[in-house]
Amino acid sequence: MGEFEAFGIAEKTGWTKPDVANSYVSQFAMAADQAMLGLVKAASPAPESTVLDLCCGHGAMTAKLCDLNCQVTGLDFSEEMLAYAKRIAPNATYKNGDAQSLPFDDQSFDAVLCNCGIMHLPDQPRALAEARRVLKPGGTFGMTAWVGPGASPSFKIVFGAFMAHADPTKGAPAQPDFFQFARQDTAREMLEDAGFEDVKHGTVSCVWSLDSADQLFKIYSEATVRMAMLLAAQPSKTIEAIRSTMEKMVEEMHKSDVGFEVPVPAALIMAKA
Ligand SMILES: C[S@@+](CC[C@H](N)C(=O)[O-])C[C@H]1O[C@@H](n2cnc3c(N)ncnc32)[C@H](O)[C@@H]1O
Repeated sequence: MGEFEAFGIAEKTGWTKPDVANSYVSQFAMAADQAMLGLVKAASPAPESTVLDLCCGHGAMTAKLCDLNCQVTGLDFSEEMLAYAKRIAPNATYKNGDAQSLPFDDQSFDAVLCNCGIMHLPDQPRALAEARRVLKPGGTFGMTAWVGPGASPSFKIVFGAFMAHADPTKGAPAQPDFFQFARQDTAREMLEDAGFEDVKHGTVSCVWSLDSADQLFKIYSEATVRMAMLLAAQPSKTIEAIRSTMEKMVEEMHKSDVGFEVPVPAALIMAKA
């Protein structure tokens, strides 16, 4: 794993915690499932086609692909996340495995799709090369990744509040740039380096629909791994200052008739093997 080994270990520890899995499903999936619908629409896999749902997590995309009559395999390294997937998409095949070292033969799938997963991996070039290896010639690769604070109101609030109050060098191991796939040139270069062709880059509009202005802090502090780690490493006074700043920003900028609406756009990247 090299340079980001500690990050990989922290991710695995986080995603296998039952309370993180539970919070992801009940809170964060609200936005991730919107990105997923954009990804499935862009891929539009044919009925009977073989599709790998990479980092399948709670299985929302697995279930959607099963509804489209695809032959779906879901892979994730968290048994806690896989348990949710098995419940909502019992007809798929599942593997507990590492996205950077896929337990499949070359050219096994018509499509490999990864919703909000690649940015959690320490060795992303290797994961992309693995996705390319298991795709049939001409097969479809598709992924989503969150857009960074410069163009994402949601991440602008979180990072803005964090940088205003906290020490960002404390609490989480070094990791690859979480938002790099949102940059068209970087995404294209990484996918082409992995052997993909015909790379296309777009955006899916996703929105947090919140009942209270405080909910955004709750989502990032309970339903994520890295952000939760960064927050937990700060003194309680700092955490309270971040929480309060985030609440104020949501309240001031994102009030709607029914609650609060905070956009959290995702980058959508499609390519061919
Ligand atoms: C942010 S969640 C995304 C889940 C799901 N794809 C979705 O649409 O919401 C990231 C998922 O990637 C999984 N994951 C992270 N690193 C992984 C790795 N190296 N191999 C397999 N799964 C991994 C986690 O267990 C988690 O379920």
